Amino acid sequence: MSTSQSASGSQLNFLTASIADLESRLTLLNLQPRDQANTVDGRDVVAGLKQTKKTLPPKYFYDDRGSELFEQICTLPEYYVTRTEAQILQEAASEIAQLTGSCELVELGSGSSTKTRFLLDAYRDQHCLDQTIPFAYAPIDVSGGILKESAIDLLRQYPSLQIRGLIGTYEQGLQNLPPALAPHRMICFLGSTLGNLNAKECQQFFDQIRSALQPGDYFLLGIDLQKSSQVLEAAYNDVQGVTAAFNLNMLRHLNWRFQADFNLEQFEHFAFYNRRYQQIEMHLRSLCDQTVNLAALDVSISLAAGETIHTEISRKFDLEQLPLLLGPSSGPKWLKSRKIWTDSQKWFGLALCQAVLE
Ligand code: AVJ
Repeated sequence: MSTSQSASGSQLNFLTASIADLESRLTLLNLQPRDQANTVDGRDVVAGLKQTKKTLPPKYFYDDRGSELFEQICTLPEYYVTRTEAQILQEAASEIAQLTGSCELVELGSGSSTKTRFLLDAYRDQHCLDQTIPFAYAPIDVSGGILKESAIDLLRQYPSLQIRGLIGTYEQGLQNLPPALAPHRMICFLGSTLGNLNAKECQQFFDQIRSALQPGDYFLLGIDLQKSSQVLEAAYNDVQGVTAAFNLNMLRHLNWRFQADFNLEQFEHFAFYNRRYQQIEMHLRSLCDQTVNLAALDVSISLAAGETIHTEISRKFDLEQLPLLLGPSSGPKWLKSRKIWTDSQKWFGLALCQAVLE
């Protein structure tokens, strides 16, 4: 730049240098190129909508707007989940880093990576003790917008952090993980997103985790625990209506992604705690008889007034069930729970698990 002598010029140089530095520490791999969206994705949408009891996969909540709405949910007074987990993480982070030693972090559904900062702080302090091991973080998220934004924030805040972000589903991300730079890897699955998976999906999920971990590697799992229906239902029916907007936004996302014509005014949010199955269920209820076309998927579906599309289950676990979930009897044998943390009300649980030789 010819203006390098002037004050604004040197400022510009400084900015350019820092952008170059950020870029050198960031790789982003998009595993969901646009042109693939309509052929590869969407089969799950068609399959779900063709069932007698219509369903849609919760991953379609998270377009960029959905991820923003979810960030808003996390700060709602009724939504105790995020705040409770953050508090546990904050208190447990340095112990986790001590237990695992130098680790590369992989995070499934990283979103804004807000809670992850507690871990990053703890690992940064740990890595500072051994400069030879790169301080690496691999966030995986279907929403490229939020992933990029938070990656840049993190690189500014952690000058020695290397970020290798993967834009895609958990499955795509786990299959495309670059080789670990540190002696061990820790996959973090926070926020009780495991609760979104039914028994069969849970099984498949653990198979994917298993292929991504070597013996000795770690898995950090946050799960929401059972509590009164009142507290649970309030968390999914907030008075400001953010959860309702989040639920309805899935239809807007499908309209964009698959050229569908859902009319958001003809659906309403419906969420309740199903105590028998120990899960919150979120539905979108059709307010009238209607037909919806999803042009890109070449499908149209009819809905009767009052009929619902089931968009999410959010299972609530027992703390006692946790070692069982992972332990010898019902869970994967290759994963052992090492330590479990909870809050004073036992509302949320955090489990550090380790992959072992079978
Ligand atoms: C991010 C899946 C854990 O189930 O509580 C929040 C998503 N849905 N409000 C949850 C959600 C409605 C959230 N998870």
